[in-house]
Amino acid sequence: MTDKAWRFGAEELVYIKEVLESGLGASTFGTMNQRLEKAFAQRFGVRYGITHNSGTSTLHACLAAAGVGPGDEVISPALTVISNAFVTLHQNAVPVFTDIDPETFNMDVEDLRRKITPRTKAIMPVHLYGLPCDMDPIMELAAEHDLVVIEDAAQCFLGAYKGRLAGTIGHLGSFSFENTKHMSTGDGGIVITDDENLAQAVRQFSCIGFGMITADSGRVRSKAFAFQDPDYKRHTAFGWQYRLPEVAAAVGLAQVARLDDYVDRRRQIWEMYDEAVADCAYLIPQKAPEGYKNACWTFAARYEGESELGVSWHDFAKKFQEYSGEGIYAAWSVAYLEPALVAQRFYGKGCPIRCPLYEGEVDWRAGLCPQAEAIQPKLMQFKCNIGDMDHARAQADALRKTVEFFGATVH
Ligand SMILES: Cc1ncc(COP(=O)(O)O)c(C=O)c1O
Repeated sequence: MTDKAWRFGAEELVYIKEVLESGLGASTFGTMNQRLEKAFAQRFGVRYGITHNSGTSTLHACLAAAGVGPGDEVISPALTVISNAFVTLHQNAVPVFTDIDPETFNMDVEDLRRKITPRTKAIMPVHLYGLPCDMDPIMELAAEHDLVVIEDAAQCFLGAYKGRLAGTIGHLGSFSFENTKHMSTGDGGIVITDDENLAQAVRQFSCIGFGMITADSGRVRSKAFAFQDPDYKRHTAFGWQYRLPEVAAAVGLAQVARLDDYVDRRRQIWEMYDEAVADCAYLIPQKAPEGYKNACWTFAARYEGESELGVSWHDFAKKFQEYSGEGIYAAWSVAYLEPALVAQRFYGKGCPIRCPLYEGEVDWRAGLCPQAEAIQPKLMQFKCNIGDMDHARAQADALRKTVEFFGATVH
């Protein structure tokens, strides 16, 4: 087996064959999606799972289900993928950014407290690189201000916070099945929740508002003769088409059965990197406070070698590659400094509802979240998504040699 093929096995092919042999009757949520939803919800101990075609459409559906609309504010951390800001903008709502904690790299809860206003409607904590956020104070603030909490657990499968799985603590949990994630359907995602009304709203939004849809069923037809009646009205809600194809769901069903193994493997690889930098004072790993269990999407660390050693991020990365390291992944830019947001390249300017976005009140510029801006250029991520453990060991070894080359400790 090549290192690229290790993630997919014979079970995927069995389920895919089953889908194709079924002839794919209707294009709405089918059997494989239902099976994947049930298996995933069961593993996470929740009532509902609603599959989607990405971990961005999941976030969009969650905001819609939470009732986020024009002029509302949605708070997410400055350091995350652009998706959170974009889906907020798609609801004609205003993205508000919190700074990050310098040790966990996750949402700074004190800054969150400061950023809540009477317009705030939802919070999207992001469990960055697999490490859960500090959820207790987030849920307390949400209860105090009547806010909906949407956990973005795209990178955090089976990560835990004080004994509870990430994604099951907020009102809604969102996961991505994109290729780099703990389990993959190529592209895809899932929303989980215990709330029947939210589950139904998410599912309807993601399946063009079909009225027949319920919290646990994506079925859009009852009796054929009713559906075929010219007077039949199908759509009772507004929505998009975010369904996961059945073939992708077949892959997901096989993957979810192996999810624990995938996560364990990443945790083992994370430990290898952690050991490699144990004596290094200038590469500081993301810190999991007591009671947190990291899902280890990547091994993330803050590189202080530029100031401590006079060795740039790029020179360190180059040396790592010379020792056969595969490459070091940088962090995304803080979201509000991405050109699309700086230039406010989105629609809705004509929206008749009073909204700070359209009245020039929103000004995204450097200095908004100083910790995130200072830490983002220093972040280094090392890949934990590796099939062959010898190859993983070689990667950790390359990191150890790089650290030794530049001097492990700083005096
Ligand atoms: C934290 C986070 N949220 C959301 C997403 C969006 O997921 P997708 O790529 O499946 O749309 C990603 C994917 O990169 C992510 O890392």
